[in-house]
Amino acid sequence: MSDYFHYQDNQLHAEQVPLADIAAQFGTPCYVYSRAALTDGYRQFSNALQGREHLICYAVKANSNLAILNVFARLGAGFDIVSGGELQRVLAAGGDARKVVFSGVGKTVAEMRLALDAGILCFNVESAAELERLNEVAGNMGKVAPVSLRVNPDVDAKTHPYISTGLKQSKFGVAYGEAIALYRRARDLPHLRITGVDCHIGSQLTETSPFIAAAEKILALVDALAVEGIRLEHIDLGGGLGIRYHDETPPAIADYVAALLGALRGRSEKLILEPGRVLVGNAGVLLTRVEYLKHGEEKNFAIVDAAMNDLMRPALYEAFHEILPVCREPFPQSSPACGGGGDREKQSLIYEIVGPVCETGDFIGHARNLAIAPQSLLAVLSAGAYGMSMSSNYNTRPRVAEVMVDGRVAHLVRERETVAQLYVGEKTIL
Ligand code: LLP
Repeated sequence: MSDYFHYQDNQLHAEQVPLADIAAQFGTPCYVYSRAALTDGYRQFSNALQGREHLICYAVKANSNLAILNVFARLGAGFDIVSGGELQRVLAAGGDARKVVFSGVGKTVAEMRLALDAGILCFNVESAAELERLNEVAGNMGKVAPVSLRVNPDVDAKTHPYISTGLKQSKFGVAYGEAIALYRRARDLPHLRITGVDCHIGSQLTETSPFIAAAEKILALVDALAVEGIRLEHIDLGGGLGIRYHDETPPAIADYVAALLGALRGRSEKLILEPGRVLVGNAGVLLTRVEYLKHGEEKNFAIVDAAMNDLMRPALYEAFHEILPVCREPFPQSSPACGGGGDREKQSLIYEIVGPVCETGDFIGHARNLAIAPQSLLAVLSAGAYGMSMSSNYNTRPRVAEVMVDGRVAHLVRERETVAQLYVGEKTIL
């Protein structure tokens, strides 16, 4: 659990606000973020990078709520985007286009135009075909596109196969052996300007060694390019630093950055990083309420009001998220939100924590020992990254509210969707 979510008088709080109060005010399910946790994570990066020219480009896909983007923008962050939509969010949140890097294997012409108009820092180009297209689009607009090649270093990130991106067989980046030829091509194209190199080998990495292995390969490439007279302004080493969900022991931000800086010793290029999960993952929880307890023949189920459409990581990756009761015994007398109703009759049992969606894969957690009753509130931890941003409307479930806590105040930063909003663009035919 992060320092920003903690028990006080047996009630789980986000900073100074009891989560039970947030549930009472905004309803459940809802995501709750801690502004201080976001700020703290960002500062750990910027402190560790002090003295070196750098840009921390928050990976928007991890959580793209405007309030979160705005917190980072005000701290001076840049952004790593993967769509025109994410660019529009960054601009709407007050982000600076000149600090935006654009990754992704499938950039459309419309997205390239949008990014060129906005004046982004660079395109992380992922294929030869994309390089040609970008040159053409920029030429048609009378512009020169800043380009960095995303190179696949062929390093095993030792993480879940769905989120491992740096191996030869992955769809990402250009092959290491083809990179120099592609840089030569980029140099010859009139509407491109080479600015850097990029790599990203995967997500939820819990060791430093794959990052260093990738960095060393990228640096060897930078040296080979220099021999050709191609000098780079920046080196982007991607994101991917993992967090603790359960019993993982990822390196601290400061140690990870120190290791990267060690590999970069003696070089003057600007260092760009694209952290996502590590900045937001443990800065958010998903607050949910128990609807029913159901005692099956083999298992006990706690059916909660959040489901796989709200947090799909367990269903998709069998990911583990810790689940804690919002109120634990002995309940404080002072809190009407805790210990009301059924909470007094709760029993401690091993539960499957499941949602109402019609799929067996719809679970939030397996075999959790919890003392709960119908109406009990639960907090699903480490849900700030790839929670809301991967949510869907499956089963016509409106997307949940999002709340950001700042000290003693809880701000609603996204309203709960209404069902009417879900079918606003739909039509019946005659
Ligand atoms: N840069 C690029 C080019 C990326 O593709 C990603 C994530 C990042 C940066 C940020 O990586 P991070 O620091 O967050 O690890 N949905 C999965 C994670 C997918 C990550 C995709 N790429 C999950 O819930 O675990």
